[in-house]
Amino acid sequence: MTEVFETIASLRLRLETAGSVAFVPTMGALHDGHLALVRRAAELADTVVVSIFVNPLQFGEAEDLDRYPRELDADLELLPDDVLVFAPPVDELYPDGESGTRVTAGAVGSTFEGTSRPGHFDGMLTVVAKLLHIVRPEVVVFGQKDAQQVFLVRRMVRDLNVPVVVDVVETVRDADGLALSSRNRFLGTQERVAALALSRALAAAEASAGSRKDALLASHTLLNDESGVEVDYVELVDPETFLPVGDRYSGPVTAIVAARVGTTRLIDNRRFQLG
Ligand code: PAF
Repeated sequence: MTEVFETIASLRLRLETAGSVAFVPTMGALHDGHLALVRRAAELADTVVVSIFVNPLQFGEAEDLDRYPRELDADLELLPDDVLVFAPPVDELYPDGESGTRVTAGAVGSTFEGTSRPGHFDGMLTVVAKLLHIVRPEVVVFGQKDAQQVFLVRRMVRDLNVPVVVDVVETVRDADGLALSSRNRFLGTQERVAALALSRALAAAEASAGSRKDALLASHTLLNDESGVEVDYVELVDPETFLPVGDRYSGPVTAIVAARVGTTRLIDNRRFQLG
């Protein structure tokens, strides 16, 4: 039986005898992408801790906090029995409400996902910082699917000298290329087909094998041809800075895309060499 902890004190007590810890923070609604993170975590330490916490701080007022799936029992079924699950109620993590100290994500936190979701990354970094202090793992494992999140977590860990190694696992995809996401369940049959345009647009960017301009043109052409997809952004960023690369840039890039398919907002990314 998976051990579930709702309080910080009970988790801390259990961790006293847990040896080294690899930590996988999640908001639940687990899928194969999360399970890949858990498998990776199991390779890295004696004990794996998975947190399941839908963090209100990272949802804006118009966002899907209420409709975000909460299904702890189904999540527990998916996890290996020897994983320790930290699933606190909201007031365990925010006993004074949401108005306390926040970590700020800086300028990169207001771009791309941060433009559409103001405050999202401050809320995300704040809860990740709290969870790292609570769990105190040797390693924390994230998925590359949320490329901007990974960039910002790595930078927070470096900037705030958090004593943890950040390990990143490649995006898990369905056979047709759709990146796994807890939000995919909101897609209707037609929308799911339309959503494939995101991964295809990123592949088209890589295949264009030209400049930033060529790559973005290839992506936009593909996305514009898909009537059910409303593009938020497509860009090529420098993985070191998460800033858009210049038109003459050649080197490693992360191509990022966000689009609304029906009422569901999806993101994806792909790393390749430009030029
Ligand atoms: O990626 C997520 O699921 C969340 O942003 C995280 C890292 C668990 C923080 O709430």
